[in-house]
Amino acid sequence: MKKLITAVVSLGLIVGAASATDVDADRKAFVGHFKSIKPNVDFADYTNGVYAFDEGSREQFEEILDGIPPYEEALEKGGAEFEKFGLAKCDALKDPAAARLAHPYYDEKAGTVVTLEGTIQKCYNEQTGKKMGTMKGKIARISSWISDQAAGEKINVKVESEGAKAAYEEGKAFFYAKRGQFNMSCADCHVYNAGKKARADILSPALGHTTHVPMYRAKWAGLGTLHRRYGGCLKNMRAKPIKAQKEVYRNMEFYHQAMSNGLEITDARYRK
Ligand code: HEC
Repeated sequence: MKKLITAVVSLGLIVGAASATDVDADRKAFVGHFKSIKPNVDFADYTNGVYAFDEGSREQFEEILDGIPPYEEALEKGGAEFEKFGLAKCDALKDPAAARLAHPYYDEKAGTVVTLEGTIQKCYNEQTGKKMGTMKGKIARISSWISDQAAGEKINVKVESEGAKAAYEEGKAFFYAKRGQFNMSCADCHVYNAGKKARADILSPALGHTTHVPMYRAKWAGLGTLHRRYGGCLKNMRAKPIKAQKEVYRNMEFYHQAMSNGLEITDARYRK
């Protein structure tokens, strides 16, 4: 029993021990885990999600990218919408590439994690007086277009203050916590069983999950934000639904993106 517990908590939470937050140590252990299960996969390839592991579907992925990807038009529209709604007038978005790189971050004054989508919503509201959705449509197009301006740059989420560390720990706890009818955690599929088959799917590694967001999914026939995907996985876990942009999701995103620090942001956002 003791052995089992040690194995399970090695990447997750050390229950009961008041350990100090060390993001870089967490990240190294995270990357090290994937290196140990897939020694032949290059670190940089983790931007390709499941296609980094599965040669069969990789071919199809590359063919799609070589042609005109199905999200091309939506991306153009996102750029036009960015202009049309005057989003460059907001300080936080005036340099789109910098905006992608600066999010998510911990806002000391507000005491909460701010996501890129949160900033887009706020700016859109200031400029137009209207509200924007959180999962698809405009927000996904605009956020994708902004992200594309930073393609090739590396994710570098900073977790520095005590408040930031507390948010990070909460997000990490959520990621490793078992929930739902199947009593599973995000890590059960995307860390411990990454590369293995779950029904018709091969499970992608959590490392790199945030490099191509918002993603295009053939199943959605469109773009969706990272939180849309979180919601989909919670549903598959038969867990209680949580709305996009709620604090637990923003905290989980903070942890999730920090684990991909050092990986390049990519515009290859196609997934099955
Ligand atoms: C029962 C297994 C399972 C669990 C548990 C699970 N997922 Fe997933 N998830 C999948 C499958 C299957 C896919 C689609 C194939 C893939 O990319 O892994 C997926 C896809 C994803 C993707 C998109 C990956 C990409 O490259 O675009 C993200 C992000 C994600 N899951 C996050 C989560 C988070 C966060 C949790 C916990 C709330 C979670 N998942 C729990 C099975 C699971």
